[in-house]
Amino acid sequence: MRSASKVAIRPVTGLPPILHTQDHQILVVGSGLAGLLTALRLAPRPVTLLTKTPFLAGGSSDLAQGGIAAAVALDDCPADHAADTLAVGAGLCDEAMVRLLAEEGASAARLLIAEGLPFDLDGQGVPLLGQEAAHRRPRILHAGGDATGHTLVQALVARVRGTPSIRVLERTCAVDLVTAGGKMAGLLACQADGSWVFHRCARVVLATGGIGSLYLRTTNPPEATADGLAMAARAGARLGDLEFVQFHPTALVVTPAGDGRPMPLLTEALRGEGAQLRDGAGRRFMVDEHPLADLAPRDVVALAVWRRVAAGETVTLDLRPALARAGADRFPTVLAFCREIGLDPTTTPVPVAPAAHYHMGGVVTDADGRTSLPGLWACGELACTGVHGANRLASNSLLEAIVFAGRIARDLGALAAADPVTVPPPPRPAVPGADAGPEMAALALELRRTLYEQVGLARHHQGLAAARDGLAGWSGRVAALAAAGAATGAPPTAAEVVRWVELRNRVLAARLITAAALARHESRGAHYRTDFPQPANPGQPRRFLTAADL
Ligand code: FAD
Ligand code: SIN
Repeated sequence: MRSASKVAIRPVTGLPPILHTQDHQILVVGSGLAGLLTALRLAPRPVTLLTKTPFLAGGSSDLAQGGIAAAVALDDCPADHAADTLAVGAGLCDEAMVRLLAEEGASAARLLIAEGLPFDLDGQGVPLLGQEAAHRRPRILHAGGDATGHTLVQALVARVRGTPSIRVLERTCAVDLVTAGGKMAGLLACQADGSWVFHRCARVVLATGGIGSLYLRTTNPPEATADGLAMAARAGARLGDLEFVQFHPTALVVTPAGDGRPMPLLTEALRGEGAQLRDGAGRRFMVDEHPLADLAPRDVVALAVWRRVAAGETVTLDLRPALARAGADRFPTVLAFCREIGLDPTTTPVPVAPAAHYHMGGVVTDADGRTSLPGLWACGELACTGVHGANRLASNSLLEAIVFAGRIARDLGALAAADPVTVPPPPRPAVPGADAGPEMAALALELRRTLYEQVGLARHHQGLAAARDGLAGWSGRVAALAAAGAATGAPPTAAEVVRWVELRNRVLAARLITAAALARHESRGAHYRTDFPQPANPGQPRRFLTAADL
């Protein structure tokens, strides 16, 4: 593991020091649901919220469709929600954390409703609840029909903007965590104008979202490049469950693969309302695959779709039963996606394929979101709280963000003021220059293809080992490009920095995920190995590692 006794940024000779230092009490990195809510729950404590996107509303949260799972119905209870979560997690959930999620989730969701977040309610003010895969009853709160994420994020952004204790820094890309004496000392970030700032701070909450952009086909936005995972890994944090990457079975097939844009999602709530998957011959294949048919756990449906797509079939989703039952108003986002590309789902089933969607693994935290690094918390998709195990139950991600944002804010709020951090600014890192652009773009595309083909939904030793060996030299290649860029002496632009940050992080995260996938010699949840097609008996335990294990 990296030595904790000195500043954890590798000095680069010949480069100028960081000129600007800003001191903060609490830094929250990322403005998805996890970051926005953590900052709001901390008010009136002063918080700086920084995000790399041009606007606060970014990340996967803005794209979320189905909603938030919570046992708020009169005929529901947290024990049932926990049981469904544990069943889908395939034996690898942390049971105590799951019970905490289900119990506190119900009250956290009720609190959001009481605070006036614009959930879809009936005439009496009772939440309308959707049904999604492997939930024993309708349990999914939604907003704006299938525009849940966008509707909630917009409302939270307005509240953040109206909260004087929250200072917002947009277009600010966190590059590396800085530690001193084994504790958090802040982070290095690049601003929109290309200037570098050392944000000095003893308490940092990372809420940087997931890793979908490591894959050629994904539902995630381009900013989901595993930045938080890689930053925490470089700083020596403990990571867990990294092999478990969830593929969503029903991404709409539109974009040419690899252009960086997310594949539009066709929410599972459609199948909850009766939409049906059909194979190339138009048959309902899920009825032969699982007793819950189209509402089987997500890993089961994704694999069944994948097998057919890999065999050259066009798998379609027939939305007509859902639209007839729930009405078109329930799914405005999905209908807009289809119509944008000239498909009319009211008359014809639409083509779907699995796409990388969610990372169950991440930076290991305790019940208060604390990581193994003193002064560092992790929240949202980045965190590995243990609630998802080998496979996440639908709509439990937004719930996890909500529950743990509240817990992290309470934990931070209960702490006495931190001693001032006096660490001097580190030198700025070396960054590849403009001329490295084509090579970096080619590497990013090759990495996305490698992960999709060899560390994707169906894995085997040969492919994983080839990915491991292929990727092993990539960190060195990226470093060499950076050194060459530094040698030119030209200061990099913000766009060049972000491109380098994301590629460097993708490479490290890809290597970590591949290493974890190679080590699990069984199929379990979202981790399917064609060379070990069954779960081991007894099952293999959860796997934890650090970057030093690579
Ligand atoms: P995000 O919302 O992804 O936010 C991450 C933030 O970090 C962004 O603001 C980004 O700009 C910022 N960031 C990243 N790197 C840096 C950096 N280096 N410096 C500064 N800022 C950085 N889950 C559900 O529970 N229910 C659903 O209905 C649902 N639907 C989904 C639909 C889609 C299409 C997708 C992609 C996911 C869906 N999920 C759903 C999953 C869920 O949306 C995500 O897991 C969740 O929103 C993650 O929230 P987050 O706040 O952790 O991260
Ligand atoms: C969906 O709406 O199908 C996505 C829900 C989720 O990822 O939990």
